[in-house]
This record gives sequence, C-alpha cells and structure tokens, in this order.
Amino acid sequence: MAENDNEEQNVAGRRRFLTNSGMAIGVGIVGAKVAGCGQQAGGTPDSAAGGGGGGGSAAEGPEPSAEAAPASHVSPGELDEYYGFWSGGHSGEVRVIGIPSMRELKRIPVFNRESATGHGATDFTKQMLGGKLSGDTHHVHLSYDGGTYDGRYAFVNDKASARLARIRLDTFECDHIVNIPWAQGTHGIFPQRHRTGLVFCNSEFRTPLPNDGSSADQTDPSTYGALHTAIDGETMEVRWQVMVEGNMDLCASDYEGKYSFATCYNSEGGVTLPQMMESDLDHLYVFNIEAIEAAVAAGTDTMRLGDSPVPVIDAKGANGQFVLRIPVKKSPHGVNIDPTGRYAVVSGKLDPTASVIDIQKIAQAFAGEIEPAECVVGNPEVGAGPLHTAFDNRGNAYTSIFLDSVVTKWNIADAIAAHGGAEVDPVKQKIDVHYQIGHINASMSETNEADGKWLIALCKFSKDRFLNVGMLHPENDQLIDISGETMRLVHDGPTYPEPHDAVIVTRDKLRPVKITPRTGPRFDMYNAWAQEDGIDLMEDNRVVERPDGSVRVYLTSTAPDFHMADFTVKAGQTVQIVLTNKDSIEDLSHGMCVTHHDVNFLVNAQDTNSMTFTAGSPGVYWYYCPWFCHALHLEMRGRMFVVPA
Ligand code: CUA
Repeated sequence: MAENDNEEQNVAGRRRFLTNSGMAIGVGIVGAKVAGCGQQAGGTPDSAAGGGGGGGSAAEGPEPSAEAAPASHVSPGELDEYYGFWSGGHSGEVRVIGIPSMRELKRIPVFNRESATGHGATDFTKQMLGGKLSGDTHHVHLSYDGGTYDGRYAFVNDKASARLARIRLDTFECDHIVNIPWAQGTHGIFPQRHRTGLVFCNSEFRTPLPNDGSSADQTDPSTYGALHTAIDGETMEVRWQVMVEGNMDLCASDYEGKYSFATCYNSEGGVTLPQMMESDLDHLYVFNIEAIEAAVAAGTDTMRLGDSPVPVIDAKGANGQFVLRIPVKKSPHGVNIDPTGRYAVVSGKLDPTASVIDIQKIAQAFAGEIEPAECVVGNPEVGAGPLHTAFDNRGNAYTSIFLDSVVTKWNIADAIAAHGGAEVDPVKQKIDVHYQIGHINASMSETNEADGKWLIALCKFSKDRFLNVGMLHPENDQLIDISGETMRLVHDGPTYPEPHDAVIVTRDKLRPVKITPRTGPRFDMYNAWAQEDGIDLMEDNRVVERPDGSVRVYLTSTAPDFHMADFTVKAGQTVQIVLTNKDSIEDLSHGMCVTHHDVNFLVNAQDTNSMTFTAGSPGVYWYYCPWFCHALHLEMRGRMFVVPA
C-alpha cells in the first residue's frame, strides 16, 4: 500500500514538478505573475497569482479523455484525414503520424543509422551523411506554393552538425543533406511560403566567424556572431548568409516572400545563463529578402568567410537595409505567422506575454518612418513560459505555456484591441496539458488554409500518464479538438524521445507513390555504376571485378528468389552488394542481410540499393532476405563463399 500512497502523492505533485524548478530560474523574471492556471474559461494568469503551478487542478488527476471524444476515433480499416510530420529530436529521424488516430505510420531515417532500412550504412546514404551517424532534428516544414503545402518536400534541420535535409514526399525518403558553412547549432528553419524558394536556417550558437582559429581572441564573445542562412529548396545549394550579433532561435517566413524572421534570445551577447537573461528586452530579427538578394546579385556588401564560397552579408550591430530588430519581451522563443499572413506572434519564454507584430508595418520601420517597436500591436498575457503559437481559421491563437503546463486560447483581434486600450480580455480558455508543453501546432496552421480542427500539444514529460517503463519515460503528444468554442483533450500519445515540432497536413496535399520511381541522386549514382560496369541493373546477376581489387556483386530478386544462389569473394576483399528488386507489386519489399558481416538493407519494389563491406575470414556465409515477402520468405537466401586471399 505504501507504493499506492506514493502514487497518490505523485499525482498531487505532478504538476508542480518542473514548474517549481522553472520558478527557481524565473524568480524575479516572471515573479508574482507566474500563475498555476488550471482549466478555466476566460481566466487570466493574474487570477491565480502565486500558485506556483498546479492551482486547483493539481489534485484532480487526469481529466477524462477518449470517452468523450468520438471525433478522434478512427475505426480499424479507416484512414486518417491528416498526415502529421513529427521531428524525432536526437533520434535523428522524422516520424509520420496519422491524425486524428495518432497512429504512427512511418519513421523516416534522416540523420541516424537505422538497422531495418540500412539508412546510414548503404552506399548512397553513407555518402549523403558524410560519415556522421547521429543528428538532432527539431523542425519539420513542408514545401509551399501560394501559401499552402504543395506536397513535394519536407525539410528538417540537424542542430548537432548544422545541416538541412530534404525528404521527398512522393517516396517519403531523404534525398539530400546539405552542410551549412560556419553555422553551429542550426535550430529554427522555415521555407518560403509563396513558392518552393528559399529555406531559411538559423544558427543558434554564436562563434567566431570564420570559426577556424584565425580570430585574435577565441575567448572573447564580443567578436562572435551567428548566421541566418538561405538554402535553395530546389537545388539544396546554400545561396547566402547574413551575419548577426545575437543567438537565433526559431525561424519563420512571411506569405509573400518579402521577409524571414528569427527570434533572438541573447541580445546581451552573453555566454553564461545569467548574462543571457540580463536584459528585459530581446528582439525579433527581420531579414529583408529583396535587399539581401539584390546585394548578393550585385556582389556589393558581401564577403566570404574562410574557405566557404557562400556570399555573406555582415549585418551585426545596427539596423540597416538588411536586418531590422523589433524589440520583444525577454528571451523570445517561438515566432509564428497567422494564416492571414498579417501577424507574427512572438512568445516571451521568460515573460508571461506574447507579442503581436503587424507585418504590414515592417516596411515603414525599414524605411525609418516608424520605430521598430511600433510594429508591436498586441501584448496579451498568456501565462508563465509561453513558447509557441498555433492558429485556427477563426482568428484565434493557441499558445503553449511551458511552466504552467497549459495551452492558452486567445483572440488576436481582441489582443490588438486590448493593446489599444479596449476593455476586453483576449484570453478565452486555458486547458491543462500533461506536462511541460514545448511545441504546439494545429491542422494546416502554418498555411493560409488553417482549418481549426486539431491541435497537437507536444509535452516534454508524461510523468504519471503511462505505465512506468523505467527511468526514461515516453513523452506525451496530446491531441486537442479545437473545432468548437471550447478546447477538448481527446488523446494521449506516448512517443519515444524526442519530438520537438510537428506539422499537420490534410491528406489530399500529398501524392505518395507505391513503386520506386528510380529518379533522383541515388539513381544517378547507380546508373553511373551500371554504365561503367556494363550492367543492366534490372536483368544482370554477376560479380564484377573492379580495377582497385574490389568487387561489385550485382543481384536481382523476385519473391521468393535471389537470382544468384551463390557468389565467391576473397577474404579481406572490399565487396559491394548491389541488389535490384524486380517485383512491381505494392509493398513487396525485399532486403539483403549477410550473416556475420553487419550488412542489412531494404530494397523496395523496383528499387536498387547497395552496401559496401569487407569480406571476413574464409568460410560459407548465408545471405537472406530480412523482409517478409512470400510464404517462402525463409527460403529466400543464398551463400557467399569466402576463399583465402
Ligand atoms: Cu524477400 Cu523475404
């Protein structure tokens, strides 16, 4: 029974966990304004001041969920209405979740080594990853046309090694990874929304630029800078970079192709936590794309950093034609653009408010006709630790509140009216989430087709919401119905660490294929190999001796056969197995696993894939198909004879 008592105490204390530790950091910052708001329509953070988290709802336990929510139930055999694209954090992958069922449909390996597909070990992916086998994905965004998704690509960042990856949305496979020169901690990314144009990437960590040891004093942070990088979404080439003085966090683009945005949480230029939190105001960087592109095209105002060929504009320090700094409240995190394209919402993280910025005023601020601060037209108090904001199609915003563990629904027009002095409370409802919510997004929220149906709350801690599975608990992705006046929690979804952000896309935006299209850089590589070796990839089964002493073993397969029952290589020889799957039936995948050689990869219908390894000591080694493909799947195998060199 002692255990049960503990459980009850845990339940009572669950909302206080981290809220209190957040308070410790936040003392004197959010101070007495910190509110432990529970679920209270129309409540304001002030109404529960001093609660320190929890409020009345702390001891009530989880609210009823799925029973009252028939709308989210997708019966067996029925399809979801939406694709959700989730980043996988430091798993390095991207996940595809069906909405509203929350069923995990696919994991797309991107920066990680993945055993089932061979991603990171096959010849093409190994080359694409440049030898790195880990990554940290945070933000997935899809390519756009005319302000909404065009279904062609998804882009995702790697914070760990400053890379941007592209996923083809016809195949759901990563086809391109680009390194971002001199960037460190690449965090927020966002594609342009008027067409598949540039993808903007913020570097979060400030370093000497170039960071090649050539600076006079590496320890002096006043010489550091960070880079806002533009990458061409079609060619994946780095087009230009703009150097600024502060840390950049989240990224956004407008709907017209005029601006990109970056929140700056360290206008102080500090390198320690107290230094970074010193100032009460940080800012939103606004980048003027037209002015930057004109300077890059003309070659004026540009420089090169170290050995990188990418043109760089130095916009550190003061406002000018390229960069505007709009002051916003302390340590801003998220920046999100509403579906009308008119407003940017920036959340204060260490301040209980969100700032509403009128994008139409930015041109005047760039022209010097108004002060940058005059672009701020609303400042609703949404709760302690606001992070990110999603939108419906009815003028409402939904801000994730980390410290309070709530989602605050507020009305943009009311927030602007209140800022102008009107007696109106923009906050409409707060709903508890479980617990410590980070990102939030709504169905089609990042497009001009936001539909106000589903909201996803990506909670960093599940605490007591699921069965205990040891020290590391799942996170909790909660689905909230926002179609009515009142937000309604309908689903708890445990996830493996550690999704950061997600977008939710109507299923009719995508046109996935079922058979490998045999196009793109991977097939450029295999077609070149076939040509140099005189091979027809779809027909030939042959061992080709290479001039360097290695061998390429070309194999084809149809269920349940490899069309070469055995082949012979020498001990210590470099071997490339190139397997083509001739089957053209939907979902008839094969693969190649070579026993005792760490070789295991997937070959989809009509696909070709390959892996390189060193033949081990002399003997007989079976290779087999690891994907269930046929009643005789287990018989789908052959022998590799390794003979003495
Ligand atoms: Cu082919 Cu199993």
